[in-house]
Order: sequence, then structure tokens, then C-alpha cells
Amino acid sequence: MSEHTEGDPNRRDFLYIATGAAGAIAVGGIVWPLVAQMGPNAREVAAGAPVELNISEIEPGSLVKVLWRGATYFVRRLTEEEVAAASSAPQENYRDYVPATDRIAGPAEGSAEWSIYSANCTHLGCIPSEVDGALEQWVCPCHGSKFDSTGRVTKGPAAINLPQPPFVFASDELLVIGTDKV
Ligand code: FES
Repeated sequence: MSEHTEGDPNRRDFLYIATGAAGAIAVGGIVWPLVAQMGPNAREVAAGAPVELNISEIEPGSLVKVLWRGATYFVRRLTEEEVAAASSAPQENYRDYVPATDRIAGPAEGSAEWSIYSANCTHLGCIPSEVDGALEQWVCPCHGSKFDSTGRVTKGPAAINLPQPPFVFASDELLVIGTDKV
């Protein structure tokens, strides 16, 4: 897996995944042009078919971007520190509070470290940029809204959290976005 060379070189991998439900993806170290790399399942993807993601080689602290139904979703594998920070942050920090545990999941009991949510700001749809090491892990470049590592909004003008798509862990190694059924 390639490493992002700016900011935090050890923890940030930016990958786009675009495929249909027929095959799991071996995560590689490239940034894929979204449309050009859509394979034989492009029609199913455009129609909203679930997207499968092989998560077996995604390291804690990494980010993967997944395209589903024409929109980008962030898939974050959180570090223990990020899970602890999100879980212990005071409720008053948030504009649309839900417990962090509602937005962190995993394939097995006690393995919750994955947070999956839309990459479009809930104000007017811009794509937030990541700020490493801060409670507000995302800052929207358009009007300054901030979101934590689980996509919960901490500063407006956005008023609601980054929405989560339906998803399911089909196995320890396979995440499926676009359905909540195995
Ligand atoms: S679009 Fe993100 S703050 Fe306005």
C-alpha cells in the first residue's frame, strides 16, 4: 500500500475504489480516476449496486474513499487513540450529537474501529479536508464547518453529521457498502 507523503506519511492512504458487487477489491497503492477505472460492473455501480471493499490490508489510521451511487464515501479505520478521543469528547462539542459508538463499527464483537460516512459536507456539499491529529478531523474548505473522525459535526454552518450509507461486514475481510444485508 502506498503512503501519503504529505502531512502524516505513516497513516494516510487515499484510495478510490469503484466496482460492483461481483468482486472484492485488492487494495492497491494508487489513486484511481473514478470514472476511467470503472470496469465491467460500471453499469451496476451507476445503478447503485453495493460496493465491496477488501479491508484486510487497510492499516489503522488509514482512509479509503469509495464511490457508491455517484457519491464519495470516506472509510476510516480509526486508531485506538482516535476511537478514545471520539468516545470521550464532551457532548457539548457537537451540533448533532450521537454517541461515537453509534458511528463506529467492526466485523466482530469488540472490534469496532471503522467509521464510514459521506464525503459531502452537509451544508452545501463541498468535500472536507482532513486535519490530522485534531478532534475536528475534517474541515470544509467552503465555509469552515468541522467534523470529527467519525463524521460528527463540531462546527457550523453545517448542522448535521455526515450521513452514513448502509453497510455490512460480510466477513472479517470484506466490507460491503450499499446494503445492510449479507
Ligand atoms: S459547504 Fe461545507 S461549510 Fe458550507
